[in-house]
Amino acid sequence: MRRVTLMQYLIEQERQYDWVNADLRLLIEVVSRACKAISIAIGKGDLVGILGGAGSENVQGEAQKKLDVISNEILLEANEWGGHLAAMASEEMDKPHQIPHRFPRGEYLLLFDPLDGSSNIDVNISVGTIFSVLRCRDGVCVPDERAFLQPGAAQVCAGYAVYGPSTLLVLTLGHGVACFTLDRESGSFVLTKSDLRIPEDTGEFAINASNARYWEAPVKRYIDELLAGKDGPRGRDFNMRWVASMVADVHRILTRGGVFMYPRDTKDPKKAGKLRLLYEANPMAFIVEQAGGGATNGRERILDILPDALHQRVAVILGSKNEVERVTAYHAA
Ligand code: AHG
Ligand code: MN
Ligand code: MN
Repeated sequence: MRRVTLMQYLIEQERQYDWVNADLRLLIEVVSRACKAISIAIGKGDLVGILGGAGSENVQGEAQKKLDVISNEILLEANEWGGHLAAMASEEMDKPHQIPHRFPRGEYLLLFDPLDGSSNIDVNISVGTIFSVLRCRDGVCVPDERAFLQPGAAQVCAGYAVYGPSTLLVLTLGHGVACFTLDRESGSFVLTKSDLRIPEDTGEFAINASNARYWEAPVKRYIDELLAGKDGPRGRDFNMRWVASMVADVHRILTRGGVFMYPRDTKDPKKAGKLRLLYEANPMAFIVEQAGGGATNGRERILDILPDALHQRVAVILGSKNEVERVTAYHAA
């Protein structure tokens, strides 16, 4: 197979689709370089004392790990000088990050979860970075929170990096999903899978079962049916996996199918779910749909939700199409 690097892949995309321009290509290359830097930092771990808590909290009241803060800094620094961005927003920052005046501004908005699954970092389990790219509306000079409040369907590009046994970058520009593996010797991301497809049916599900007593009736019904296995209405056994890193769980589903759920529950009625719409659910929903899967909040397609806050939470059900449709139908019943 011809060895195609991320840079070559993006140049080919630019030739094929006229809306893929040099700025977007630069943006993705810069994000991939930042992910490489995060991967290197994570790889060093305890050797350089970067595991453990940072002793601070983010805007959502969650304790930050040192690597949450470091990954956020890496992404900000890498992206602010290239002239491709209008502004950035992150899980770790209350308000959008403006491009310093000494640098030119571009037309794109970048959103990210710099380190996803960070509760896993100290136990050496896979974590990742999730990102989403939107266009900034014409005429907006200093994009505030409102500029980012666009439905997921407006995303130009979305991707994630998984820092696991291999470091992978998974990407969609709205024409299928491609996966690149970091070649640690050459430092390049090399195309290792193109046109990923999620099997429509699956025998695997992912949910944090410790929340079972808080689930709403449709979710309880669905999971009870899966747990009943071949003795229940589904007539076959299902297997359960929960990494507690969304990137790792979604990547498994992209590879061999499955359904991932972080549903709305009654644990904290003020929250519509645990995961954040703009930089977790939307990019993952875009990728999953591009791979032939489904993504809803139980009631509607995630990509159709009109956001009303930068850090808004949402229920997430995504993965193999037929299972996502089934759980969603249970919510309507
Ligand atoms: P983050 O580390 O960015 O805050 O995200 C953690 C998320 C997600 O990765 C994962 O699916 C989920 O939280 C795990 O939640 P539980 O700890 O409730 O299992
Ligand atoms: Mn996350
Ligand atoms: Mn995070």
